[in-house]
Amino acid sequence: MPELSASLYNSPFLKACRREPTPVTPIWLMRQAGRYMPEYRAIRSKVGFLELCKTPELATQVTVEAAEILGVDAAILFADILLILEPLGFDLEFTKGEGPAIHNPIRAAADVDRVNVVENLDDLSYVFEALRQIRRALPSDLPLIGFAGAPFTLACYAIEGGGSRNYEKAKTFMHTDQGAWDSLMSRLVDATVMYLNAQAEAGAQVLQIFDSWVGQLSPTDYRRYVLPHMRRLFQSLTPGVPTIHFGTDTGSLLELQRDAGGDVIGLDFRVELNHAWKRLGDQVAVQGNLDPTILFAPPAEIKQHAERILREANGQPGHIFNLGHGILPGTPVDHVRGLIDLVHNHSFSRDLEPI
Ligand code: CP3
Repeated sequence: MPELSASLYNSPFLKACRREPTPVTPIWLMRQAGRYMPEYRAIRSKVGFLELCKTPELATQVTVEAAEILGVDAAILFADILLILEPLGFDLEFTKGEGPAIHNPIRAAADVDRVNVVENLDDLSYVFEALRQIRRALPSDLPLIGFAGAPFTLACYAIEGGGSRNYEKAKTFMHTDQGAWDSLMSRLVDATVMYLNAQAEAGAQVLQIFDSWVGQLSPTDYRRYVLPHMRRLFQSLTPGVPTIHFGTDTGSLLELQRDAGGDVIGLDFRVELNHAWKRLGDQVAVQGNLDPTILFAPPAEIKQHAERILREANGQPGHIFNLGHGILPGTPVDHVRGLIDLVHNHSFSRDLEPI
């Protein structure tokens, strides 16, 4: 892992990841570079989504421009959690209007054998090149987040072949042959560990693991089919690089996710921040948790919701402001900027009772 400069080490975002006090609450937003932004749409009118991800100069432009326009406390690599499926042997396409499609999904236990054991990540060298370029282009005190999909969420796409409402194919696979499931999850974990550690090497200061669809599982199933794999993933990451463990609809899984690993636990908008943090205890930081649809509301309403979240966090070191899920297309950019200014200008009379 490259040495961290003092200005990065002392940035509010990295301090919050370590649960150290910061002058103001750091904020960044999931999908901060995306279709709601005219600058992004202008680039996308010329190149396809996968081509954008695979052209380091363009990925750099999109990442850096979004961070500059918004004035956020961290930049996030422009890429997608599904890119790793290509070196694993999946045929990935982003179809217009319908989202991702995997044309050769896993359907039977025997299909797991054709998932490649990834020996090197040469096929993803564009991601590492983008990280190096982004790191050089960003202000020297602005942290860069690298990321990957969690094995359960990747397995959902690999089995369903795309998005899904009920995840019945993925869950049936899981419930039918635990041996095949564990072997698929192991291959995903091995590749993901290699991928994330290489991202830290290439210039990412923090790593976020997106388990976007894990809230579809009962606690019993999470414990049995997911937790051991997540634990191995977190334990295999380069020590000293802070990790963010994100999921949605995870109100019933938070303690289990914390036990699996992560310095920061993502909270979606279905939980109250103070109650959730209390359940998690004071050994983890939290990230969240504004409902992304609130950003469509009038500024006065946005203010009320943001202030409620800040009040709930109560200045306790280790809160990173974010949405509960990614910014939606059509969100007014000035509302997003207004939220960021509001969080930065907020000052609490700190009443640091233990959470
Ligand atoms: O947050 C950022 O700004 C970094 C970039 C980023 C993207 N996808 C860009 C993207 C990140 C971190 C992701 C993660 C991702 N991708 C997740 C986990 C986060 C989450 O939302 O739960 C998931 C599930 C995916 C898979 C994926 N990629 C879907 C379901 C879709 C289609 C839905 C949609 O919004 O179109 C994508 C495409 C995608 N990934 C877009 C962007 C900006 C939109 C593509 C476009 O330009 O049309």
